Order: sequence, then structure tokens, then C-alpha cells
Amino acid sequence: MENMKTEPTDKFHVLEKKNQEAEMGGGPERIAKIHESGRKTARERINLLLDPKTFVELDKLVVHRSQDFGMDKQRIPGDGIVTGYGKIDGRLVYVFAQDFTVFGGSLSRANADKIVKVQELSMKMGAPLIGLNDSGGARIQEGVESLAGYADIFYRNVQASGVVPQISAILGPCAGGAVYSPALTDFIFMTKDTSYMFVTGPDVIKTVTHEEVTKNELGGAMTHNSKSGVAHFRADDDEQAMMMIRELLSFLPSNNMEDPPVKPCTDSAHRTDEKLQTLIPESPNKPYDIKDIIVSVVDDHNFFEVHQHYARNVAIGFGRLNGKPVGFVANQPAALAGVLDIDGSVKAARFVRFCDAFNIPIITFADVPGFLPGTEQEFGGIIKHGAKLIYAYAEATVPKITVITRKAYGGAYCVMSSKHLGGDINYAYPGAEIAVMGPEGAVNILYRNKLNDQEKAQAIEDYRHTFCSPYKAAGLGYIDEVIYPRHTRLKLIQALEMTENKRETGPAKKHGNLPL
Ligand code: HXC
Repeated sequence: MENMKTEPTDKFHVLEKKNQEAEMGGGPERIAKIHESGRKTARERINLLLDPKTFVELDKLVVHRSQDFGMDKQRIPGDGIVTGYGKIDGRLVYVFAQDFTVFGGSLSRANADKIVKVQELSMKMGAPLIGLNDSGGARIQEGVESLAGYADIFYRNVQASGVVPQISAILGPCAGGAVYSPALTDFIFMTKDTSYMFVTGPDVIKTVTHEEVTKNELGGAMTHNSKSGVAHFRADDDEQAMMMIRELLSFLPSNNMEDPPVKPCTDSAHRTDEKLQTLIPESPNKPYDIKDIIVSVVDDHNFFEVHQHYARNVAIGFGRLNGKPVGFVANQPAALAGVLDIDGSVKAARFVRFCDAFNIPIITFADVPGFLPGTEQEFGGIIKHGAKLIYAYAEATVPKITVITRKAYGGAYCVMSSKHLGGDINYAYPGAEIAVMGPEGAVNILYRNKLNDQEKAQAIEDYRHTFCSPYKAAGLGYIDEVIYPRHTRLKLIQALEMTENKRETGPAKKHGNLPL
């Protein structure tokens, strides 16, 4: 009788002990060190990210299989990574969080297998995967097995690309080849002061190129948000990063077969904004902030900007119109006069492709004087990088709606979701200037050294009057409607409703050859 009473208790005790061991990770001292550094533990991060009490852990008792370097005596259940699934706003997501308290969150074979399992589940079940990265890289004691684990993860990142949204947060170290899994995902978040990413660290750089650079200068959050463009979002800390991921997901469908989630909308579709009538300065050379237009037209003025600190001459991000998520791409006259350059083209092109992959309509605001001139741009390959944006727009089959607010000159007119690249509805404001180039440039070429100052001024005025308006393009049907700025919100919503059931398929092919 006594045996019958104690046996089940022992079984439960064993399980409880194993669970506790897994939950303690590398132990209280290492957890305290993480907190001292301003970071949260893997489990705390998951709890902040997911709806309360929805996390279901998988592979909690997995241990590494390494025997070398005394590793057979150091086995911690979970092996430095917490994986599983849960909910964000009631919708299924998969998550993995590297646990720096166990072997520095380094990637073992067993640890990689846990990531691969949630990658495969996320693809099979059609739900986003969120990776919370905080790791010393390849598990040094495991050698090539760890490298194989990385490559297995990369392979699945590529398989999942365009199938489910993949989101990475860098919340601690991320160095060497380990950077390439996040780089293959759709969006990267980084935390200020506590995260860094680089392929080769400051010590190697010093040896090879004799450059001296700190970890933060080389690969901190601001470096990747503003200089390299590797990261899309910068958060103050782990908590803010988790909240931003939740917000981003609210705009995205769970997979490529779904439409993005519609939110009940109380903001009237007919809301007008008189401010827009005078927002654009009379002088074509005066800047204004294109985001004022976006913020004015979106539901509840809520614009979720992506890549805010990078290539500021182009603004991109998500918003809702009548409850439905849309992606915005806009030239920004307040930075570099809204010109298209290498960084701006690549930034916009990648975003257009993301929206297209996940059935998110694209709204383009064009005010662009052309491509940025200069040897730096030409030597840097503005030809192939600009071509990426053309490619992305032409390839996209989601609804494409364009508003030319002011300038649409030259090749940049063609690029910015023009009718000719498949724009479904193309609007222009009455002050739009759609021409091969600006009046001064045109007159200089047409009458090179042939006119005195007065004649030149007259020629510029004549050119402006004849060509710098939306009416030539509207007369040809390239602009569907010239609209009052105050009506922009309603016009966009009407166009979205009209294009709701758009069906378009390109010719059969294995894949195109994007000019990389
Ligand atoms: C095994 C590791 C480890 C690793 C850290 N640890 N990195 N264990 N493999 N890669 C362990 C440490 O031994 C230590 O264990 C604990 O994690 C915490 O590390 P600390 O060094 O005390 O922490 P900190 O001072 O914060 O420094 C963090 C760090 C440093 C900068 C990440 O640990 C470091 O430089 N690690 C090595 C990084 C590296 O070179 N990785 C390989 C990169 S190449 P104890 O028991 O003392 O707590 C790579 C290739 C990938 O990743 C290829 C993909 C294709």
C-alpha cells in the first residue's frame, strides 16, 4: 500500500525537478549578470512578447550530446534555448529565445535541432516565427556539428521566406556567421546599448586592417539602423522591442495564403483634411514632410514606420485604411529633396517585395526630382540598385495605388509605381509636375548658351506651364484622376475597395533574376 502511495509522487517529483532545472538555466548568478547588463532572460522575454499564459514550451528537456571538453558532465535541460508556441493578439506564433545563461546561448547541434523544429512547424501550420537572439555563436566545443546546425537553420529561413513572416530581435551578441539567420528574415529589431551584430569583431578588424573601432560603433543598434540598413527597428530595451514586435505583427497575415488582419475601424472613410490643401509649398524647391500626408490619411493617424533612421529620403511603413493594413512607400522631400539613391531604392524595393509576398496593398506617394547624380552613386551601382525598385514594383501583383503629390521627373516617374509598371489607380494632386526633367534643366539642354537671361526665364516659364502639370499625363490616361489633397483618404479607400479582388498572375517561370 505504501509503495502505491509514494511511487506516483516520485514520478512527479522527478518531472518537477527537471522542469525547475530547465527553468533555472545557467543558475541565479548568471541570471543576475544578465539583469545587471540591462537585459532580460529568455523566458522573461517570451513572457513579455506573448499574450499572458499562452506559451507552450517544446523540447524543454533536450540536452546536448557532446562528450568532449568535459561537456558530458555539464548538461542543462533545454541546452541554452527556449522554444515553443503561443499567441499574440490571440493569433498563433512560434518563438525561439536563446538563453545566454547556458554556455552563452551558443548554438549546439541539439540547440539547432530545436530551432529547426519550430521553423518547420511554423511553415507547416502557417504562423509567423519570431527569433530572440542573444548568443556567443557556434558552440565552440561542438565544432562542425554546430556549423551544420547553422546551415540547417539558414536553409529553412530561405524555405520559409515569403511563406510565413519571420522576425528577428537581436538582444545581445550576434557575431560571425550567426548574423546570417537574422539577415535572411524579414525584419530585424535591435536594442540600444545591449545588442550588436558583426561578421568579424573589433579584434579581427584591428589585426587585418589596423582600424580601431568599438563593438557599438561597429555593430550597435544605431549603426545597423542608420548606416548599414541591416536592422529595421531600434528599441530602448527588451521590453520595448517585444511591444514593437507585437505591433508589427498586427499588420501582417499569419502566412502568404491569408489576407492581413482587418481591425474594426471607427475613423470615417469620408474624413477630409483641409491642412493637406496647403501642405505642399508653392515653391517646388521647398521641402515638406511627406509623413504629414501619411499620418493624415491613415486610420486614427497611426503610421508604423519601418527603417525610420535609414535612407530617410524614402519613407516606408504600415498603416490601415478603413481597417485594412496597407504598406506605404513615399519619397521624402524633407531629406535630400526626396531624391532616389542607392540606399533609398534598395530600402523601398525590399519593402515592396515583402508587401507583395504577404498580400498587403501598396500605396505610393511620389514627389521625386529624379535619381541622385554623382560618381559615388554611379560607382556604387545606382543602375542595378535602382533597377531593383523597378523590378519590385513591376513584379508586385497586390493592389498598387499611387499619388503624385508634386514632382515626378524622369526615370523616377516611371519607377514610383507608375501606370506603366502596373499601377492600378494613379492619382495626382493639381500641383503635380510630371515631366522628363525640371524646367531649368530642360531649358539648359534645349537652348544651351543660346538665350540671354530674360529669354531663358521666359523659356523656363513656358516649359513649366506646358509640361509641369498633371494634365498632359491625365490627358493620356496615365493619371486616372486629379484629386483634391483634402480628399486623399477617401480616394485611397475607394481605390482599395475597387481593387479588393484583384487577380493577376505573371508568366510561368522558376524564378525571375532580380538584379542583385
Ligand atoms: C561555448 C561560450 C561561447 C561559445 C560564450 N560562451 N561563447 N561557450 N561556445 N561560442 C560561454 C563562456 O565560456 C561563458 O561560460 C559564458 O558563455 C558567458 O560568456 P562570457 O565570455 O563570460 O560573457 P561576456 O563577457 O558577456 O562575453 C560574451 C561574448 C564572449 C563576447 C559573446 O563570450 C565571446 O567572445 N564568445 C565567443 C564568441 C565567438 O567567437 N563565437 C564563435 C563565433 S564564430 P561560463 O561558464 O564562464 O559562464 C561563429 C560561426 C558561426 O559563431 C558560423 C555560422 C555559419
